[in-house]
Amino acid sequence: MNTFDFYEFEHPTISFFGRSFAEYTRFFDLNPAALRGRKVLDVAAGPASFTAEAVRHGIDALAVDPLYGCTSGALEAHVQLDYRRIVAQLRAKPQLFQTAAGEAVGRSVFASLDEAEQDRRTAAAGFLADYENGFLYGRYVGGVLPRLPCPDRAFDMVLCAHLLFIHARHFDLVWHVDACRELARVASGEVRIHPVCGPDGQSYPGLDSLRGQLQEHGIMSEVVSVNYEFFVGSSSMLVLRPAAEQRL
Ligand SMILES: C[S@@+](CC[C@H](N)C(=O)[O-])C[C@H]1O[C@@H](n2cnc3c(N)ncnc32)[C@H](O)[C@@H]1O
Repeated sequence: MNTFDFYEFEHPTISFFGRSFAEYTRFFDLNPAALRGRKVLDVAAGPASFTAEAVRHGIDALAVDPLYGCTSGALEAHVQLDYRRIVAQLRAKPQLFQTAAGEAVGRSVFASLDEAEQDRRTAAAGFLADYENGFLYGRYVGGVLPRLPCPDRAFDMVLCAHLLFIHARHFDLVWHVDACRELARVASGEVRIHPVCGPDGQSYPGLDSLRGQLQEHGIMSEVVSVNYEFFVGSSSMLVLRPAAEQRL
């Protein structure tokens, strides 16, 4: 392992790996009661259980991912392969993660890496249990950024976790601008993107350029701290708000 590997979570491909509703509420600073009855879109949702659980909280949630449309058996196979790969790296690089047991950090969400692994496996099981029925009801929709199969301003809130910046080596600035504009296009309210760091835990280096270009397109942005940190450096989200005059 060279120095670069030691300090970076490696993403040779974009994994089908997902988190729970509870973890989403922490890293997106969500108030579930305030979202009841609202339309919420989760983009690059993977096997996260956010949508399945959100519906049980009375939220009108919809999820988009390139792999939706595959059979549940195929998605389960993706989960098995990708979880094995991600968990192996989590174990090999504990220095990249905050746990309450390892360090007394109030923003941490898990007491141990075992707890984190179990929580994400439970999330994937919750997603897989909901998938076939949810797909028939149109809750899981196939789609690939930077294009979304959704009308303009269709959602009160749009979420996108663990795609844009954590996988920054897979995308360039032009792609990031296009993806953010597309997320903003389908939102009537805020877009929240998490985390804002790259795979090395450092702030995404193209952030200022991205924010400047979005502003030229009438999209205001703000980096907001959140009461969450598991992957080191993941304690913030990028909030996009189309300028008021653009909304009319
Ligand atoms: C690491 S998972 C994140 C899942 C979930 N958002 C979470 O935070 O738990 C990343 C997901 O992005 C999806 N993905 C990859 N490329 C994409 C693209 N261009 N547009 C939308 N989703 C994409 C993958 O299929 C994968 O399910």
